[in-house]
Amino acid sequence: MNIIMLGAPGAGKGTISSRLEKKYNLPHVSSGDIFRYNIKNNTEIGIKAKSYIEKGLLVPDDVTISMMIDRLSQDDCQKGFILDGFPRNPKQAEAFDEALSKSNKKIDTVILVEGDLKKIAERLSGRRVCDNCGEAYHIVTLKPKVDGICDKCGGKLIQRKDDTEEVIWQRFDTYEKETKPLVDYYKQKNVLHAVDGFANLDDTIDKISNIL
Ligand code: AP5
Ligand code: MG
Repeated sequence: MNIIMLGAPGAGKGTISSRLEKKYNLPHVSSGDIFRYNIKNNTEIGIKAKSYIEKGLLVPDDVTISMMIDRLSQDDCQKGFILDGFPRNPKQAEAFDEALSKSNKKIDTVILVEGDLKKIAERLSGRRVCDNCGEAYHIVTLKPKVDGICDKCGGKLIQRKDDTEEVIWQRFDTYEKETKPLVDYYKQKNVLHAVDGFANLDDTIDKISNIL
C-alpha cells in the first residue's frame, strides 16, 4: 500500500502517519524528519537544507527529489509506505510518478488533511516534537505520558525552530503557492480523499481505514 499524506503545515500529517505506521506496519517516511536528522548531524544535505527550512521555504528540488527517491528505494519501503511531506510541488510529483512507474509501482491513496489556517497556527504554538525520532505531541491536546519525554523512544521533547509565528505564516504561504496545486493533480488521478485534521484522532484513523 503506497500512501501520500497531503496538507498544510501543522494540519496533522505526521500525527496521522505515525498512527497508520503502527496499525499497518508500514514505514512513516517524513521528508521534514529526514531533513531535520541531516541538519542535526551536519551532513551535506543538512547544510544545503538548513537556511530554507528556517525561513519556511521549500528546499530546492534537486536536493529533495534525489534524497526522497533514494529513501523510498530502500528495502523497508518495498511493501509500501506512508509518505509525509513529499511530493510538495508539481515538479516533485511528476519526478516521483516517473520513478514509481519505472519500478512498476503507483500511488494507491492520497489523504488530504484539512484545517483552518488560523486554528492550525494556534495549535502549532503548543506542539512539541521528539528531538530523537520526530514524534509530535501537543501540550494540551496530545500530551506524552511523562512530561517532556517521548512515549515512543524516550527522547527529549523540544519546540521546532520553524514553529515561530512568522515562519509558520511563511510556511502556509509556501503551501498555498507551491503545494496546493497537488490537490487537483491527485484529484484527477482519482486517488484523493479528505479528512479533518481537527477531528478526534481515533475517528480519523477509522475513516482512513475504511478508505484504504
Ligand atoms: P515538514 O516537517 O513536513 O513540516 P510541515 O509540512 O510544515 O508540517 P508539520 O510537520 O509542521 O505539520 P504536520 O502536518 O505533520 O502536523 P503534526 O502532525 O505535527 O517540513 C518542514 C520543512 O522541511 C518545510 O518547511 C520545508 O522547508 C522542508 N521540506 C520538507 N519536505 C520538503 C519537500 N518535499 N520539498 C522541499 N522542502 C521540503 O500536528 C501538528 C500539531 O497538532 C501537533 O502538536 C499535534 O500533536 C497536534 N495534532 C495533530 N492532529 C491532532 C488531532 N487530531 N487532535 C489533537 N491534536 C492534534
Ligand atoms: Mg510533520
